[in-house]
Amino acid sequence: MKLLAKFLFLSAALTVLSGCARVTLAWADLKPAGAAASPPALGAFAGDGPVTNPPDWEARKPALQKALEAEVYGAFPDASSTRVIGKRVLNDGAFAGSGVLEEWTLSAEATFNGAAVETKPFPGRDGFLLEVALPADATGPVPIIVMETFCPSWEVVPDPAVSRPADAQEMGGGPLGGVMTYVFGRYICTPPFEMILERGYGVAVLYPNTVPDQRDEGLAELRRLSAGYENDDTRWGAVAAWGWLFSRAVDALEQDPRIDANAIATWGHSRYGKAALVAAAWDPRIAAVIAHQSGTGGASLNREKKGESVAAITGAYPHWFAKSYAARAGEEKGMDVDQHLLLALIAPRPVLLGNARRDVWSDPNGAFRAAMGADPVYELLGSDGLSQSRLDEWRPQAGIAFWLRPGTHGVVKEDWPAFLEFLDAHLGE
Ligand code: GCU
Repeated sequence: MKLLAKFLFLSAALTVLSGCARVTLAWADLKPAGAAASPPALGAFAGDGPVTNPPDWEARKPALQKALEAEVYGAFPDASSTRVIGKRVLNDGAFAGSGVLEEWTLSAEATFNGAAVETKPFPGRDGFLLEVALPADATGPVPIIVMETFCPSWEVVPDPAVSRPADAQEMGGGPLGGVMTYVFGRYICTPPFEMILERGYGVAVLYPNTVPDQRDEGLAELRRLSAGYENDDTRWGAVAAWGWLFSRAVDALEQDPRIDANAIATWGHSRYGKAALVAAAWDPRIAAVIAHQSGTGGASLNREKKGESVAAITGAYPHWFAKSYAARAGEEKGMDVDQHLLLALIAPRPVLLGNARRDVWSDPNGAFRAAMGADPVYELLGSDGLSQSRLDEWRPQAGIAFWLRPGTHGVVKEDWPAFLEFLDAHLGE
């Protein structure tokens, strides 16, 4: 088996195993249980007094970003640029005629301390790929959902014209794909394209493995991309880099007149839910976020958590975060930041936090308390923020919409209708 095929197979198998381990008999509490998020989002921070008005909040944001970089995600590039190398139509009657499918080739550069390094190209192409599906009957610029998923683009987008390496391992169609779908739900690999396109949204699929999700290769690529960065403790992790890749897709999408540059949403499940939040917290052009079961290092608080601890996540996935995050394991109470501040950085833009009652590993309760902690910032900026008092009161129109369904970790039948309800409430006409 060639290297890429081996990697795909192994990562899918690991995903399945970790998912099985997560299917426990525990249920998340339906009411917030545990301490309030700390430090208070509008309280004194890094030598500055409490925030009482929107301009002061705007001035506070860079310090919060720096603190989250130092303690959790690692440093973001000083500068970035994106080149659109090419666009080609793959199928103008894709998804049973509901969409036009294109493949865009992009290349991006990250600059740290003056050293600019380019992303690695996809095998056989000049850059990395973005598969773009636009509604066939659009009469004007459309809102678009940019997504990163576990599966490679040629599995996510069921069209034979999508580029794939010659030695690609099939996942969706084979027995492993069947197991993945059984364990993690029907939409784990492929979203319901027709349903989404018919509702008027475009979909852009980014294969995040431009920065590989593997300990050694991932770390090597992160080091290569941040060649000018000296401090190994706060070098960026893959979650930050996947967030950065979302922004590179936005660079390209916002240039295309068929796309509404003010209605670009990021979507991610689990590890890519973390990245979808990070992208929006650093990139104000992202108009809305759907972060499904983002868990530790995503929407769930580090303090007083159930499920995956900081020690567990940094031990299993040392390439996801800055080393400094691992160093805080067991001492989370002493951290300068917590994850509600990540959500607060997105305010007042709408965010959906997706959860499942028995996915305690992702700590729905910790995500709810993070939402409560971010709420004052939403309200300060004129949004209603979190408007539910229990985890299971679904309010898709709210600035922070908290979605809790029965079941476990994965993307299942009920999830996409809820995601679209949220997007219609916020990005719809
Ligand atoms: C692992 C990991 C989680 C992550 C998940 C996923 O279970 O512990 O933090 O969210 O993988 O990406 O599915």
